[in-house]
Amino acid sequence: MHQFKDQISQKLVKLTKLSKSEIDSLLEVPPDPKLGDYAFPCFSLARTFKKAPNKIAQNLAEKFEVDETIRKVEVKGPYLNFFIGTKELAQNILMQIKKQKQKYGISKTKKRTILIEGWQPNTHKAFHIGHIRNAMVSESISRIFEFQGHKVIRSSYMGDIGAHVAKWIWYYTKHYKGKIPKNNVTKWAGEIYTKATQISAENEEYQKQINDIQKKLESQDKELTKIWKKTRELCIKDLWQIFEELDCKIDRPYWESEVEQPGIKIVKQQLEKGNAEYSEGAIIADLEKYNLKVLVLLKSNGTSLYSTKDLALAYLKSEEYEFDQSLYIVGSEQEFHFKQLFQYLKIIGYPDADKVSHVSYGLVSLKQGKMSSRKGNIVLYEDLRDKLLKLAKSQISNRNLDEKQKQKVSRIVTFAALKFSMLNQDPKKFIIFDPKQALSFEGETGPYLQYTHARICSILRKSPQKAITNVNFSLLQTKSEHNLIKQLGTFPDTVSQAASHYKPSSICRYLLDLAQMFNEFYHKHRVLSDNLELSKARLALIDSTRQVLENGLLLLGIQAPERM
Ligand code: ARG
Repeated sequence: MHQFKDQISQKLVKLTKLSKSEIDSLLEVPPDPKLGDYAFPCFSLARTFKKAPNKIAQNLAEKFEVDETIRKVEVKGPYLNFFIGTKELAQNILMQIKKQKQKYGISKTKKRTILIEGWQPNTHKAFHIGHIRNAMVSESISRIFEFQGHKVIRSSYMGDIGAHVAKWIWYYTKHYKGKIPKNNVTKWAGEIYTKATQISAENEEYQKQINDIQKKLESQDKELTKIWKKTRELCIKDLWQIFEELDCKIDRPYWESEVEQPGIKIVKQQLEKGNAEYSEGAIIADLEKYNLKVLVLLKSNGTSLYSTKDLALAYLKSEEYEFDQSLYIVGSEQEFHFKQLFQYLKIIGYPDADKVSHVSYGLVSLKQGKMSSRKGNIVLYEDLRDKLLKLAKSQISNRNLDEKQKQKVSRIVTFAALKFSMLNQDPKKFIIFDPKQALSFEGETGPYLQYTHARICSILRKSPQKAITNVNFSLLQTKSEHNLIKQLGTFPDTVSQAASHYKPSSICRYLLDLAQMFNEFYHKHRVLSDNLELSKARLALIDSTRQVLENGLLLLGIQAPERM
């Protein structure tokens, strides 16, 4: 839609003497399409022109020269409302989509390198619903940036050492009698961790044993290190499989274990430099001056903390990559940690301190509360996936598909439901996940968007006209056609917005609106009729709609199948 806005603002520059950027920021899209495609409020001109805003609007309207593209200007009180020619609009936007195909939606921006850290589950623990949101938000933001032509480095950061691992190994070596399963190792590891927590809580003897194991692990005890290595490997292998299922690829996995020693070294160096101090045996940084309390950098027994490792991680990232931006996609409960960390990095002269930011997202819980009382209210990935698969299968059971196709479709629908509901909400807000609702083909869901896409594909398949060329765009005259075309035209802006605010949710909203406008159009108009010229124009319109749905879904990591 940019080119139309540009034409209006260029003409207004001449008439008002305001700068183009001033006009651009004033031009708005009216809430009701009846009020035109763009509106210009005249309030801010009152002082310069020494006239009432509605008088100014009238004057400007008289002087504004309409043409084929901007075909009409209307005065509504202090507003000028502009109407774009239906044919120009359709021709311009639909031709652009037809030409650019999978690339439609990219806008010109300066190319940057962006290091993204997301996908941060821990080994020896379960992969739960919160990790799914983390993975989906990280993946979608990466895809959005890549789509815009930026270079994205996807990195994960997994907790593979520390207290939780010691507790796990303690239970595994001292109490566990069973075997290691072949599949779903993460789920099994999570169960062991839960049991370990349950029986060790409030038991001083057990706590002592666990601490002992942690110390032994830190001093690289041979036997325990062997067990750690083996179980760590198994957990990681399973986590990769989960990421593969979710269609996430990671370029550089970082591990807590590789930054622990370097972290301790950095803290000691900073102590010497006077950027840290002793307090009750521990090493701390006093950040009171910045209203950020005290950051503990090293425990009094000399062992590392979460913060210790994060210091080394930041330096390691900078050593390995030259980036313009370094994003940490981490839950909102860690906001304070990142404020402290980033402030401290600035103090100690970390070279990329002005490039780091925390992209935070809210918690996820399940609508029915606990999924299984035995496991507390942690909702495990594997359980949720299998529950959704079962639900999806029963939903499509009456479809005219063979068993293999049913299997395939229920998988596609399951992941669409899961991913879309993780992204549809503003990242900062909490999500209450409802499996039934997420799978619905009618609500605001991933499957609904896929279904709309597949429906368009089926109309296109039925069309006797295969090549949609020499289209007479002036035939797309109705209101629902005009609205649909306009919505298609705003896709590039939506993608830029989503990129600059790290908000895949704007793409979700956009696609839901697009699907809704398509369904309104389809409800009112026949695409295939005896009027061949009109059919062709409408086929061009729905084919563009299909393309934009596909492009948008891909940015969310969701497949757009042609048949469902
Ligand atoms: N593994 C951490 C956790 O479970 C999240 C890691 C976040 N990233 C970081 N650089 N601190 O809480």
